[in-house]
Amino acid sequence: MKFTLQAQDKLSSARAGVLETAHGNIETPIFMPVGTAGTVKAVHQHELVNDIQAQIILGNTYHLYLRPGLDVLQKAGGLHKFNGWDKPILTDSGGYQVYSLTEVRKIREEGVTFRSHVDGSKHLFTPENVMDTQRIIGADIIMAFDECTPYPCDYNYARRSLDMTHRWLKRCCDRFDSTQPLYGYDQTLFPIVQGSVYKDLRAKSAEVIASFEREGNAIGGLSVGEPAEEMYAMTEVVTNILPKEKPRYLMGVGTPINILENIALGIDMFDCVMPTRNARNGMLFTQNGIINIKNEKWKDDFSPIEAESDLMMDQIYNKAYLRHLIRSQEILGAQIASLHNLHFYLWLVKQAREKIVEGTFYDWKEKMVKILGQRL
Ligand code: GUN
Repeated sequence: MKFTLQAQDKLSSARAGVLETAHGNIETPIFMPVGTAGTVKAVHQHELVNDIQAQIILGNTYHLYLRPGLDVLQKAGGLHKFNGWDKPILTDSGGYQVYSLTEVRKIREEGVTFRSHVDGSKHLFTPENVMDTQRIIGADIIMAFDECTPYPCDYNYARRSLDMTHRWLKRCCDRFDSTQPLYGYDQTLFPIVQGSVYKDLRAKSAEVIASFEREGNAIGGLSVGEPAEEMYAMTEVVTNILPKEKPRYLMGVGTPINILENIALGIDMFDCVMPTRNARNGMLFTQNGIINIKNEKWKDDFSPIEAESDLMMDQIYNKAYLRHLIRSQEILGAQIASLHNLHFYLWLVKQAREKIVEGTFYDWKEKMVKILGQRL
């Protein structure tokens, strides 16, 4: 994997770059649609490629390990072959899902035992077996196994958890470096900075993570309920320490405004379920602000879903029809709204990239932050 910085904003820490992987190049800053179980919910691969030019998608170790299971994924020749997506894939390690989705879990030095949310069966994730699992899934970028602390989190818990995440990282790297890719192309491992909302812990974690000298770095444990200002403060502490020449991935973030503010702080990669999850409930992100398409006011509004958008679906279908589909829980409603929101997120990061290259990012970002919070 290779990362090249192409432009840096003068008034902020925003950067534009290119990340080269075995399955193609990614232009940063980038948003990665979330494809938890090997599918971006309600969106076809050909729509991701042709209609919205997605460059990389995310998969989840936790879900794919439980279903369809490693035997199927290995027989298929990895997730790219299984789901027909031949561009880059990043997999999260389960270091978030085991805490957010499972009720019974025990966190020990060895790893985490949990019960499957599918059938209640008992499992153990360790730094070693999570590396092996991500080798089998065959993602281009795989994530270290970490503990994502909740919010709020007591200082002493956050400190102890951080030390364990760092010890787990050493085990992840040892396992990853002593094993080979299974399908003939390179994979790379990103470590994850933790430290809750404590600046000293974040700084310490960023220093430890940087000392591992991996090809890219991630920031976790944010967007878990803390105020946005605290999130930005943590990003700033960490991006001032992480090496400038490597990509930085902020996990699970966020709203369009969060994305713009974090690009300004030097983040290159994002993922979040928000565009697809909120789409299924009728929340649409647009260049002029947020629409709740279920509202009465759209009942007989036959104008295009978004007049300014270059997405074909936004022109073919009108607001009143989409409102009807979502209110009737029609599958097509989820499909149109999900594609619309992902198109918006990818438009936003592409615009950000263009403005960084042009040298006009900062003013544009300030203007967009004002617009994007509006409810239409
Ligand atoms: N997704 C969102 N936040 C996190 C995190 O802290 N760790 C991991 N592994 N995944 C995440």
